[in-house]
Amino acid sequence: MTTADLRLDPDTLTRQQCKESLIKDRLIIFDTTLRDGEQSPGASMTRDEKIRIARALELMKVDIIEAGFPIASDGDFESVKSVAKIIKDSTVCGLARAKQVDIERAGEAIKSANSGRIHTFLATSPIHMQQKLRMSPDQVVEAAVAAVRMARQYTDNIEFSPEDAGRSEADFLCRVIEAVIAEGATTINIPDTVGYNVPHQFGALISDLMERVPNSDKAVFSVHCHNDLGLAVGNSLAAVLHGARQVECTINGLGERAGNASLEEIVMAVRTRQDIFRCDSDLDTTQIMNCSKLVSGITGFTVQPNKAIVGANAFAHESGIHQDGVLKSRETYEIMRAQDVGWTTNKLVLGKHSGRNAFKSRMAELNIQFASEEELNEVFAAFKTLADKKHDIFDEDLLALVNEATFETENETIKLVSLKVCCETGEIPSATMTLNIDGAEQQAVASGDGPVDACFKAIEKLTQTGVKLQLYSVNAITTGTDSQGEVTVRVEKDGQVINGQGADTDIVIASAKSYINALNKVINSAGRTHPQLGDV
Ligand code: KIV
Ligand code: ZN
Repeated sequence: MTTADLRLDPDTLTRQQCKESLIKDRLIIFDTTLRDGEQSPGASMTRDEKIRIARALELMKVDIIEAGFPIASDGDFESVKSVAKIIKDSTVCGLARAKQVDIERAGEAIKSANSGRIHTFLATSPIHMQQKLRMSPDQVVEAAVAAVRMARQYTDNIEFSPEDAGRSEADFLCRVIEAVIAEGATTINIPDTVGYNVPHQFGALISDLMERVPNSDKAVFSVHCHNDLGLAVGNSLAAVLHGARQVECTINGLGERAGNASLEEIVMAVRTRQDIFRCDSDLDTTQIMNCSKLVSGITGFTVQPNKAIVGANAFAHESGIHQDGVLKSRETYEIMRAQDVGWTTNKLVLGKHSGRNAFKSRMAELNIQFASEEELNEVFAAFKTLADKKHDIFDEDLLALVNEATFETENETIKLVSLKVCCETGEIPSATMTLNIDGAEQQAVASGDGPVDACFKAIEKLTQTGVKLQLYSVNAITTGTDSQGEVTVRVEKDGQVINGQGADTDIVIASAKSYINALNKVINSAGRTHPQLGDV
């Protein structure tokens, strides 16, 4: 079996095979940015956004992409279905609780995938079984086995997760795992759902389970760690040292609460410390920065400057001593090369005189594919408008334009038509806002503490959504005062938290766009099911 074979079909591997062949050196990367990442408050993504991220993950050679939770809503189902249809080189996975309706929906969603997987899960910790599921241990074993049996009607590639495994009793875990493997589960994923474990203990749990479960050689052991104590990456790496051969992770560590283990940190730790880890992934790490920027651009979750690998300061050498050392010999202070994870300097890429072909080929280099000529024309027109206002256009500007275009074409109930803002020293700022709401143009005037406040009040007057603003932040996309401002807002409605984004060289317009974007998402995402709440 060649490495290429393994990449195309990593899921048929068993622990025995891992021991016996080349495969012992292979670490399977399961990305759950589009599922667990999307469970971060406010990070919900549209179908087109998920497709863009899935394409970037495929290009980076991620083995498995968990594209969503198909039963959550019709939108989630359509997203997983579209990703399954488009992605060819990575396995596409849909999440399902151990329930018939969930499994049927997930099976339907991944039907057209080149390689599809169903990931089903059921909690096994005493607290979850008693308080959440209200099921006895025997009932849990029975339901887990039944779920795997149902999933086998759709695919042979089945992952089972005993949710909250990190707080489950080892003997009971062994019992459940043995039963689901016997029923046909090919990957056993051990989640530290609440981020409670510590590395030496979590690593020992993995080797203990692999040793004690009699049929453990028939499945790949995987881990899925949350970052509540800041230990998600540490726990995942400990598990790899103890025999896990699949790691579940997300770009930028996005995910429920404090997030999931960060893909870029795990992949680079394993690659950089080959003396310690006796395995490696197939990832093309030069795509890491692209993925990181794409995910933060789409979700509005900005990356902290000192974040490992993808933070703005990760390869910056501020102190004189460090700079001197790095100039003499890079290895004095750098253990990785910036270009190996895709860092490039801000390059001037296009300008006012660039034509459609130059634009199209730069977009292709950025892995942006347009669904139609109309879509390309729309973004090209937006590029020309921007180039009239802004002399130098960078990659970041182009990505923001694509985000904008996606915002505009997808299920928009509310559209910005025009905005006039009056600000003067000593006067109360006011905004005259014209919106198109469900096809009809309406206008309102409002005043506020500042121009943005006035704008948001005018939008609320017209839309009457009753949302509460939780966060407002402005970021310059590139350097210079001619930079586009990128605005992220977070709003809350009936317990649901949604992020919105907008970009423009005028930050008041960017603010209005971001608020309208959030409101459109609120309208489109009502009534979504959360996978880890509720019964089984
Ligand atoms: O954290 C968790 O337990 C999960 C499961 C669905 C695998 O996300
Ligand atoms: Zn999780």
